[in-house]
Amino acid sequence: MRKLSVADINPAGKRVFVRADFNVPMDPEGRITDDRRIAAAIPTIRLLLERGAKVILASHLGRPKGKYDPSATLDAVAVRLGELLGRPVPKLNDCIGPEVEAYVWAMKPGDVVLLENVRFHKEEEANDDAFAAKLASLADVYVNDAFGAAHRAHASTEGIARFIPGVAGLLMQKEIEILGKALTDPVRPFVAILGGAKVSDKIGVIENLLAKADAIVIGGGMAYTFLKAKGYEVGKSILDSSRIEFAAEAMRKAAEAGVELALPGDIVVADAFSPDAQRKVVPADAIPADWEGLDIGPETRQRYAEIIAAAGTVVWNGPMGVFEMPPFAEGTIAVAKAMAESKAVTIVGGGDSAAACEQFGFADKMTHVSTGGGASLEFLEGRRLPGVEALRDESDLEALR
Ligand code: 3PG
Repeated sequence: MRKLSVADINPAGKRVFVRADFNVPMDPEGRITDDRRIAAAIPTIRLLLERGAKVILASHLGRPKGKYDPSATLDAVAVRLGELLGRPVPKLNDCIGPEVEAYVWAMKPGDVVLLENVRFHKEEEANDDAFAAKLASLADVYVNDAFGAAHRAHASTEGIARFIPGVAGLLMQKEIEILGKALTDPVRPFVAILGGAKVSDKIGVIENLLAKADAIVIGGGMAYTFLKAKGYEVGKSILDSSRIEFAAEAMRKAAEAGVELALPGDIVVADAFSPDAQRKVVPADAIPADWEGLDIGPETRQRYAEIIAAAGTVVWNGPMGVFEMPPFAEGTIAVAKAMAESKAVTIVGGGDSAAACEQFGFADKMTHVSTGGGASLEFLEGRRLPGVEALRDESDLEALR
């Protein structure tokens, strides 16, 4: 059943606890290097402010392990939020306690405040009931807009909804609608592009998509485990030796189900894991013993671009090569470019592929770039996300109006 969203409720005059995912990358000087997650939360915050809510924002940042860590404060986030909202966003020094309560009780409709990193309390990740109750006591309604953290059953992503009614934020709603439609009712052909270093990270996704996709296109470090399963030698390429049998089984299942499982036919190999290494293009069954594959080759790029051009829906998770090193970025760029040029519904599932899209300038040309890394992966695995499950269904609409 559809989850209620912030657009379904009347928040006027109410204190609304908005859990966002402001877990943004920072450089060593504490400057935000990618503010997409902050920008993505703005529509929900604006809607609530325009409708006269008192908006209490909360998030985690990093993994401070339950204690205060000056490098994980939300100070820089508050500043960037203020710039994006066009008004200052005050930030408190904690997320619970008497000072926070006093501040929140004094808020007026249309006010906004950001609480400090919820992970400075170990009770957050422990999903402690008493801590969740304290967070809940600050507000009348809970809005979860943190899709990126929806796979975590923590106090501010799940526990809090046991104490006050929870609804989805606009970003959360968009993420689950777009990713959900791709899985349940995609425009066909439905093509999944999977890359990244390890097969182990993608087992659940491959298993789920074997029953749903028309084609699964493999690249990145995980491709070498599939090539090995075909009996090819992969030299010094990254190999998940415990997953060779899984890869062989996935290829058998794909053949049985009539799902095209595309593997690289040519590889860019290098004599060292370095941007300055010697490199050459070789057929996938002729990787020299002392070399390692670091990208898909030009013929594979062309073939994958053609598969993307013929698709109705493309979901992409994981780079095709070591794109952080320019000599091995071409495969990842080719996939991003083909998606950007295609008329298909194009969805980039978080993490490295989203970063690559942003870095190479294709992000704006995609139907949707997910703000969730682990969360979008778990969604594509067909798993239920605790942060979504905790929210109210449409049947609660009247009670919440
Ligand atoms: C993410 O960056 O994927 C989310 O913010 C979740 O962070 P976590 O993996 O530290 O829980």
